[in-house]
Amino acid sequence: MTATFIRNHRRLTEQALSIQSKVDTIAIVKNDAYNFGLFDTFTAFHKAGIRAFATTNLKEAKKLRSYDSDIMVLLLDPCTEFEEMREHEITLSLPSYSFYQQYKDELKGLSVQLVFRNDLNRLGFTDSSKMAAVLDDASIKVNGLWTHFAYADDFQTNRHEKEINNWLGVLNDLTSYLPRLSYIHAQNSASYITNGLMANHTHIRGGVILYGTRPYVGNLDLSLARQTVEVTANVIELTDIKAGESAGYSAAFTAKADTRLAVCDIGYGNGLILSRKDFPVSINGNHYPIRVMMMSHLLVEVDQSVSIGDTVNLYNDELRFDEFTERGIGSFSQQMAAFNKETFTQVDIT
Ligand SMILES: Cc1ncc(COP(=O)(O)O)c(C=O)c1O
Repeated sequence: MTATFIRNHRRLTEQALSIQSKVDTIAIVKNDAYNFGLFDTFTAFHKAGIRAFATTNLKEAKKLRSYDSDIMVLLLDPCTEFEEMREHEITLSLPSYSFYQQYKDELKGLSVQLVFRNDLNRLGFTDSSKMAAVLDDASIKVNGLWTHFAYADDFQTNRHEKEINNWLGVLNDLTSYLPRLSYIHAQNSASYITNGLMANHTHIRGGVILYGTRPYVGNLDLSLARQTVEVTANVIELTDIKAGESAGYSAAFTAKADTRLAVCDIGYGNGLILSRKDFPVSINGNHYPIRVMMMSHLLVEVDQSVSIGDTVNLYNDELRFDEFTERGIGSFSQQMAAFNKETFTQVDIT
């Protein structure tokens, strides 16, 4: 028996369509599309009408271009492989004014977008006058402007308001250039769900919501995002231990009372993040606590109703990535990126 990683391609398309039908979307597909798989994700999103894709590395950008000659492929990180980017018609994000100054000649003929650094302090121009200087350079093909918010998912501070105002100030300073730009984008899933598309923006730049996860739980209905991934394992053994006895390496679990443990064929080696251990699994519709997580096994405390061969659900419509995120386990991308898909039996719902 092997743990199973189930990808629901149909839902992925429907999920993307539920967003793209309302707002033009640049799909974030970095890290092998949040580990869903780049080609399959591209296929689902393209079916949903998405025609713009963004990633952080050239290798993935080139793959995207090989899938379709008409889409916009945006490279989010700086890159100096100018010939390759030109050949594969990749739009480069310009990370700073000094990058522009250094590579002015190489940038000729390449499509670029200008990034505003803002409060994330990761990449980007720090003031609009320098952005205007690049927009005024007729030899540089600027097709868009973007920024990335640091606090769109954070409701504990008022810093999001400040970063929105910084950005809207930049757009205001560059008003006269906006009509000629096809891509003006800043909003991730949380920002779009909270605010709708902001004025003067052409697209959102969505990640988690496209993959079937609410960016935050709040009062958002479950139907907003139907989960596209399920993970199951199997009960491969039942072990009874007496009160005071231990199980796992270095007595990872000591039973307070006589306890039945189900040994399940999944662990952190398959990519379960360690904090998943703090939340239950479901077997035959009942929830049971994980007591020990090992590389390829979980020990789950069960009752007499559980049998060898039963299916153990780790993620499904009821055990949702976004609910776990809300309860502190880690973001959707952290939970997804960790999965070692090679170790699973993979099932595709098409
Ligand atoms: C630059 C950029 N834009 C947009 C997103 C999408 O964010 P979310 O998944 O919260 O929609 C990401 C996610 O990592 C990102 O790095």
